Amino acid sequence: MTQLVLPNDTNILNNLLGGTLMHWIDLVGAMVANRHCRTPIVTASMERINFLNPIPLGHLVLLKAKIQYAGKSSMEVGVEVYSEDTLTGEQSRASNAILTYVAVDLKGNPVPVPKLILSTEEEKASYNEAIKRKQERLARS
Ligand SMILES: CC(C)(COP(=O)(O)OP(=O)(O)OC[C@H]1O[C@@H](n2cnc3c(N)ncnc32)[C@H](O)[C@@H]1OP(=O)(O)O)[C@@H](O)C(=O)NCCC(=O)NCCS
Repeated sequence: MTQLVLPNDTNILNNLLGGTLMHWIDLVGAMVANRHCRTPIVTASMERINFLNPIPLGHLVLLKAKIQYAGKSSMEVGVEVYSEDTLTGEQSRASNAILTYVAVDLKGNPVPVPKLILSTEEEKASYNEAIKRKQERLARS
């Protein structure tokens, strides 16, 4: 997903508002989760978000999201955010986040999602890390 930082999206330093970026992160994550399960989904958690560098007015914001884990009804999505200078094309890392979505029916009750097919070692590693995060979250609650 690509967005352009317009004046209405910025703080008094002329950089993208954190809340606006969080909204875009949630949207791109939700689109990816929905494409996996093709049911309504809700955001269950935004577990980790890092703002690494400010994104100035007039830059493009490139948001790349992928599913890292699918459980019974939940899906963990990782989002990487890059900032692109429209005049030079130079890109830099701006933010990253991990979110969990839950597939639901029209009454909001969780429903099963398809399993993930893991093809690469990288996919297997991020799946296992997501399981660890889920276990840690369940141990905390
Ligand atoms: C998310 C929600 C559907 C979970 O419902 P629930 O009755 O607690 O369901 P369960 O306890 O059976 O959990 C269902 C799944 O959600 C996961 N889950 C529940 N709460 C979670 C949380 N805070 N963070 C991450 N995952 C969570 C569970 O681990 C479980 O995963 P699994 O099925 O893959 O094993 C419910 O809490 C809800 O509707 N929350 C509000 C969502 C919302 O309004 N979001 C903002 C607007 S989109």
